[in-house]
Amino acid sequence: MSGHNVWTHKGTFLLAAVGSAVGLGNLWRFPYLIGENGGGAFILVYALTIFAVGIPILIAEIMLGRTSRRSPIMGMRHLTKTHRTFRFWESIGWLGAAAAFLILSFYSVIAGWAIHYTWLMFTGSLLEADAQAISEGFTALLASPALMTLYHTLFIGCSGVIVGIGIHKGIESGLRIMMPALFVILLVVLAYSVINGDIAAAARFLLTFNVANLSIEGWLQAMGQSFFTLSLGMGAIMAYGAYMTSEISLTRTAIAIAFIDTAVAMVAGLAIFALVFGAGLDIAQGPGLMFITLPMAFAEMPMGALIGGVFFILVLGAALSSSISLIEPVAAYLVERFDMTRPQAVAVMVIAAWAMGLLTVISFNIWAEGSIFHALFGRSAFELIELLTNVFMPLGGLMIALFAGWALTQTEVKKELDTSATWFVTWRFLVRFVSPAAVAFVFLRTLPYVQGYLVPATGALLLVSLFALGQRWIAKRRQLTQ
Ligand code: PHE
Repeated sequence: MSGHNVWTHKGTFLLAAVGSAVGLGNLWRFPYLIGENGGGAFILVYALTIFAVGIPILIAEIMLGRTSRRSPIMGMRHLTKTHRTFRFWESIGWLGAAAAFLILSFYSVIAGWAIHYTWLMFTGSLLEADAQAISEGFTALLASPALMTLYHTLFIGCSGVIVGIGIHKGIESGLRIMMPALFVILLVVLAYSVINGDIAAAARFLLTFNVANLSIEGWLQAMGQSFFTLSLGMGAIMAYGAYMTSEISLTRTAIAIAFIDTAVAMVAGLAIFALVFGAGLDIAQGPGLMFITLPMAFAEMPMGALIGGVFFILVLGAALSSSISLIEPVAAYLVERFDMTRPQAVAVMVIAAWAMGLLTVISFNIWAEGSIFHALFGRSAFELIELLTNVFMPLGGLMIALFAGWALTQTEVKKELDTSATWFVTWRFLVRFVSPAAVAFVFLRTLPYVQGYLVPATGALLLVSLFALGQRWIAKRRQLTQ
């Protein structure tokens, strides 16, 4: 497509993709999942998935964006046409947009909690508080729809403004300031935790691989986490990939993204556990690890309020650079498809996700356990939305792998990948067979009624997908024989 935007600098794609990947997933979710799942073994499974499934799909997703040079929905529409596959494959774009919308809605609410804690830290309100007061403080925040809505609005509003300004002046410039600052802050927090916390205990905990400790649920969570943390299957990476210039190596970039993302998660985990162990607190707090346990640890340490405040700024920045990547694919679609101006398109996405986010807000109070909603669905609206995204993400990733592996022609892939023959063959093998099988397995395992038939169901799903793609092969044969 002529005149399609590209990033100003060669390195911007990497910057943007790392910005998208590093977020609440690394700083909030990863540490509490390790805490709940017994340390090193979880990390081992997580790392294996990143390399065997995450990186190949990451390459596939960037590739689809870069070859189509359009927003995910329009890009997939274009690719299904030019590759004569079923239009069904267009749903990669739609699934991504739906997942991005749903994730943005709750992501903004949780990031909003970090605004609250930044404020509490810098004003020193937590200094005199004892453990009980801190944990009651978190409960009080969750009990207040007004307060949560205020923070949610602030956060999503900021994200919208950045994307609304445009990919160069808004996203690129924003990231160029934010990302280096975040790395500096992360190192400051690490240094602080080495001095004041128990870093040896943290390292021991993270590096002890006792696979027997890991439940099957833990395995699944580790795989799900590797998807979430790399921002896969949501169109975010595809949308950014559309702005990537052609001469940059896909493989090297994808490996760099995965490596930096994993390193940040590990460093954050190390720092957080060192502080929590140092203060003699329990690490298996679940989602409250960052908002209850960590503030308790900071409250006991020298300059805790200041460093605590700085830490929550880090959380906010990381969340912001991720949330803009959730707005971009849908905004870009609205601009391309309906000729909207960028601010209009962003406003549509942000206002809709904001309204959807109110469901998450009231999931912790008005519609909490005991409400009619809870009784009807057996879970809160927030949990329902999270469940949906947990289905959409792997499904999107599975389809991306299959499409890039089977529908793109050898010439196209070679042009995009531009590496050694061995890597080309390896990558194709991974995205054609290994990644789809692994993802299908995890995905089906989450559906309760398939569990007994896991292996045949995985096989059947893959066969149906391959059949759907086979149409291209048939079309080509027909052309040849005509
Ligand atoms: N990767 C982000 C994180 O770890 C979350 C995210 C998912 C962002 C999908 C964009 C798209 O927090």
